[in-house]
Amino acid sequence: MFDNSQFPKAKKYWLQGKTYEWSHPNVHSMSHALHYGTSVFEGIRAYSTRNGPAVFRLPDHIARFIHSAEILSMKVPYSKEEIIEAIKLVMKENKLDSAYIRPLMYYSYGNLGLVPKFSAVELVIGAWEWGAYLGAKTETGVQVFIVPWKRVHRSQLEMTAKLGGVYVQSAICGMQARSLGYDEAVLLNLEGNIAEGPGENIFIIKDGVLITNDKTESILEGITRASLLEIAKSFEIETRTGVITKEDLFQADEAFFCGTAVEIAPIVGVTDGSNPQEEKKKYVIGSGQVGELSLRIANAYKDAVCGKLKEYEKWLTYVND
Ligand SMILES: Cc1ncc(COP(=O)(O)O)c(C=O)c1O
Repeated sequence: MFDNSQFPKAKKYWLQGKTYEWSHPNVHSMSHALHYGTSVFEGIRAYSTRNGPAVFRLPDHIARFIHSAEILSMKVPYSKEEIIEAIKLVMKENKLDSAYIRPLMYYSYGNLGLVPKFSAVELVIGAWEWGAYLGAKTETGVQVFIVPWKRVHRSQLEMTAKLGGVYVQSAICGMQARSLGYDEAVLLNLEGNIAEGPGENIFIIKDGVLITNDKTESILEGITRASLLEIAKSFEIETRTGVITKEDLFQADEAFFCGTAVEIAPIVGVTDGSNPQEEKKKYVIGSGQVGELSLRIANAYKDAVCGKLKEYEKWLTYVND
């Protein structure tokens, strides 16, 4: 029934303390989260290292997961340590050497009033082998489209949480960009500045300075973003956090997306479609090729996640301890 062709190597998933065959159905169609997006989730990656698979910044992801759950008033059925152990178990049960790991907590079956007062909170964890989120273009650079929709504002919802329902906007914008022939969407915020991609943060580089925005711009402050800011500092690359205007992006020397799924994907062209009343305008970023500094940072990140940089081994949780 549930074929795993889009989930390579996924054989088993974990639900409420037990593992099940991947094809085993478990959710009633009248579950609360399915109707109203009342779920929270994480996207985590594990990488192959010389000491076996290691999960990147696992405690940080689980801390954010629990924070997201608190925003949705969920009573988390497991402790942080138990969730970490369950993730390691899923990696082992599926014999994964590298993986994308998806923990999801949701209000399940119980009632369908908007307030899930009779719906239990359930935790499920899946993992599979997932390549580059934006495919082969990750190497050569992606073309992005600034969509007309503005990112949900931090005055409207707690945007530091990964709330399932908020990703309806991400899905719509991602589909819109692709239907117009672009690789990914970029969303502005209500102030008209660059916010983020549907599931990615954005960095620009200008005159050798690495610049990104923060949660005051209604973004999810990603764990990859924080890692890159730290890596850049140790490479003595100047960093700055603040507003990124549309013009800053158009005039950047280099730009890239970052995030757990996308890792680092250089942006080489931007089309501004933010005002549907105006003609779309296309801009080339820098030389239109992947920039030198972006490449240096991407390579350092790759080395860090695979345990090749001693100072960042602190970010790895080995699956086989
Ligand atoms: C909206 C959004 N922004 C940014 C990110 C990047 O966050 P991270 O680096 O923690 O994966 C993600 C992915 O989780 C996301 O969904």
